[in-house]
Amino acid sequence: MLRRLSPLDALLAEAGHTLKTLCSRSKQSMPHPHDDSLSEAERKHSSGLMRVNHTGEICAQALYRGQAFFAKNEETKVHLIKAADEETAHLNWCQSRLYQLDSHTSYLNAFWYSASFGIGMVAGFTGDAWSLGFVAETEDQVSSHLESHLSSLPQNDTESRDIVRAMLADEARHAEQARAKGGRELPKPVKMLMRFQSKVMTSTAYYL
Ligand SMILES: [Fe+2]
Ligand SMILES: [Fe+2]
Repeated sequence: MLRRLSPLDALLAEAGHTLKTLCSRSKQSMPHPHDDSLSEAERKHSSGLMRVNHTGEICAQALYRGQAFFAKNEETKVHLIKAADEETAHLNWCQSRLYQLDSHTSYLNAFWYSASFGIGMVAGFTGDAWSLGFVAETEDQVSSHLESHLSSLPQNDTESRDIVRAMLADEARHAEQARAKGGRELPKPVKMLMRFQSKVMTSTAYYL
């Protein structure tokens, strides 16, 4: 059960969560020995891909929390908040790996969080079935990104590869759960718009 908050308290709680998500420096990491066998080019490429994954997790959190803000029933709201919380582990794994690779998270994360929160609110406003369908589609699109990263990450970057594999298994489960809760199949133009937005995000986060 979620505690009922006044609109102002809910807004302040969201602002607090946003700051925590954007400003935390994670100490959590997957339990692997440090791999320092990467060449400079490999390290740069792995950093770019892990930065994309980290920003993807920032977007997922913001989308789900934005959707939860307008969820019509309590069960959907709890599901969305739980889904956002589960993405926190992914966020932390990617962030730790980026620091191990001597790199940084995206400079544009605050922008992506706000944009995704806004999109999430619109999705939440359309009703719970569409909103859960939006979760399922988001998770499907994240999964295909992660699959492409598995083909692109250097073979000897075992640590990043293990993180991506673990995330892939979780995202597939998240998509299944959202469909099982009644998520509706989204119309093609909406899926295409989501793909376009994710294309812009992935191609900027790789460098910035
Ligand atoms: Fe995730
Ligand atoms: Fe997920």
